[in-house]
Amino acid sequence: MKFFLDTANVEEIKRIVKLGLVDGVTTNPSLIAKEGRDFKQVVQEICTIVSGPVSAEVIGTKAEDMLREAEDIATWAPNVVIKLPMTEDGLYATHALSQRGIKTNVTLIFSVAQGLMAAKAGATFISPFVGRLDDIGTDGMELIRELRTVITNYNFPTEIIVASVRNIGHVEQAAIAGGHIATIPGSLLPSLWKHPLTDIGIEKFLSDWNKMQA
Ligand code: G3P
Repeated sequence: MKFFLDTANVEEIKRIVKLGLVDGVTTNPSLIAKEGRDFKQVVQEICTIVSGPVSAEVIGTKAEDMLREAEDIATWAPNVVIKLPMTEDGLYATHALSQRGIKTNVTLIFSVAQGLMAAKAGATFISPFVGRLDDIGTDGMELIRELRTVITNYNFPTEIIVASVRNIGHVEQAAIAGGHIATIPGSLLPSLWKHPLTDIGIEKFLSDWNKMQA
């Protein structure tokens, strides 16, 4: 399973890259806005830190605007991926870009039908949002299991990015469900390697060791 970082915070990315845990990065307009920095500058900086795919999202809602933005973004770095919304215009742009060999990530996917449409249109990645589905009282992870079945049934080359990940359970269940990638907020990632019993164990080993030295 691959791990992407769901952040536009360069310091966070630099810290976690050193642990060998970052296979790519996803950003969105909300995450970019949070940094208060120039969009192109942030994306280019991230692309130099991480060699894997880095998603940068278009703002336009009309296909021609999406394509104009995508053509520009695609020149920013060799590993940049164009993130597009799951709409008819988004599908049009996804298809056009895939025919030109430009990688895409179709975002805001909330149903099997939407995932299937994006895969058919030639999306490199699809991003189902598990946390936001849980928020409305449905089982977000069920969508991951179903999408994985669809992708395997028809050998689509599309990879599932499990997005809107909010807790350790989401990451564990995404791996069990066969999500190809989980995109994880930088603030959540440390909780994946921490456990209170590990801390208690270290403390006990050290105190026993120190008693022997005394
Ligand atoms: O990966 C998508 C993510 O950035 C949205 O997460 O927690 O706002 O639903 P959230």
